[in-house]
Amino acid sequence: MPFYQSRGDVPRKRHIQFRENGLLLTEEVMGLRGFEGNESILYHLQSPVRVAELGGFEPITRDEWVPDNHAHRHFHTAGIEPSGDPVTGRRLLMWNDDVEISLSRPSEPMDYFYRNGEGDEVVFVHEGSGTLETIFGDLPYRPGDYIVVPRGTTYRFQPDNGEQRHLVFESPGFIEIPRRYRNEYGQLLEHAPYYHRDIHPPTELRTHRDRGEFVVKVRVKDGIQTYVLDYHPFDVVGWDGYVYPWTFSIHDFEPITGRIHMPPPSHQTFQGHNFVICSFCPRKLDFDPMAIPIPYHHSNLNSEEMLYYVDGNFSSRKGIEVGSITLHPTGIPHGPQPGLAEKSIGMTESNELAVMCDTFHPLRLSALARGLDDGVYAYSWREDPGPVKTADEDPAGVTSHF
Ligand SMILES: [Fe+2]
Repeated sequence: MPFYQSRGDVPRKRHIQFRENGLLLTEEVMGLRGFEGNESILYHLQSPVRVAELGGFEPITRDEWVPDNHAHRHFHTAGIEPSGDPVTGRRLLMWNDDVEISLSRPSEPMDYFYRNGEGDEVVFVHEGSGTLETIFGDLPYRPGDYIVVPRGTTYRFQPDNGEQRHLVFESPGFIEIPRRYRNEYGQLLEHAPYYHRDIHPPTELRTHRDRGEFVVKVRVKDGIQTYVLDYHPFDVVGWDGYVYPWTFSIHDFEPITGRIHMPPPSHQTFQGHNFVICSFCPRKLDFDPMAIPIPYHHSNLNSEEMLYYVDGNFSSRKGIEVGSITLHPTGIPHGPQPGLAEKSIGMTESNELAVMCDTFHPLRLSALARGLDDGVYAYSWREDPGPVKTADEDPAGVTSHF
């Protein structure tokens, strides 16, 4: 999506004969928005339509928790049990019609290939490294990477040894680089917090020629359809275009700071349909002598804010830890807890790292969320904040919306 790429061999023009050892290759245009959006053109050894066996269709079920009250919530996710593979191990936490947010702590390898046929995915890699093998080539990933996977991309996670922990966003709409960061030609503008050099497309295309039995699971029509192929699905000898998976590291996000407080849109990393994904990164803080470096209270009417704490010092906020998620829902105000605004004055930097998703329609919560909810966060605005340390000694609570 970000800019034109080509891997492997492609013919000199579109839609002409292209052969390998006399075999006429099958050209596939993988396009978004019909024939009007971005596209890539892939050249296959087999017809990508070819199926050896139609497997079953399994509808996706969502176990909803409808709380007794509308309140700010804090979910402790660090201790969720490892389970499943990097796709089946995704455990839905919250969702609406625009986005599904899941946690994944996979413990098993994928013995099949996967394709989301009805949505874009962004996988934030909190812990773990490995390679996302895709039909467009290999995509190495490491902690802090956002893995951006456009719909229609067949893939398989090959994690390295060690713990994996992912925060997963899936959307029926497009997940894109914010429009205001791009000029009319698509190039990232000088004020954008990242540049094309920070965007990493697949490194190497490996053409698989094996025959045998290969299972491909495709998310479509709110379910998972299984197909069995008699050829390896990564049978592409070359491709070019604008549609492919890529990674962007949260550590390459260049924070935008100001003399007085900058609002969350300055942290925006991706735009979705009716939601945004933002990165809160270590940065210098507001430098006006009268500045209050932490956020003002705000009522985000028609907006829900989910904040996932990745790393940093959260010690001044009781109970907040790595892997914590706070949810500040629509219709009620939120802001710093008592004492924190005063405490923040004079702070010069923040070392917190967090990922935020703001949705413009209410989120529903899953049964998993019920189990992770601390049940007391809503009362934390009446707590005594305790002795006030100097701000630079204890800079917690800055990136967040306390
Ligand atoms: Fe907020």
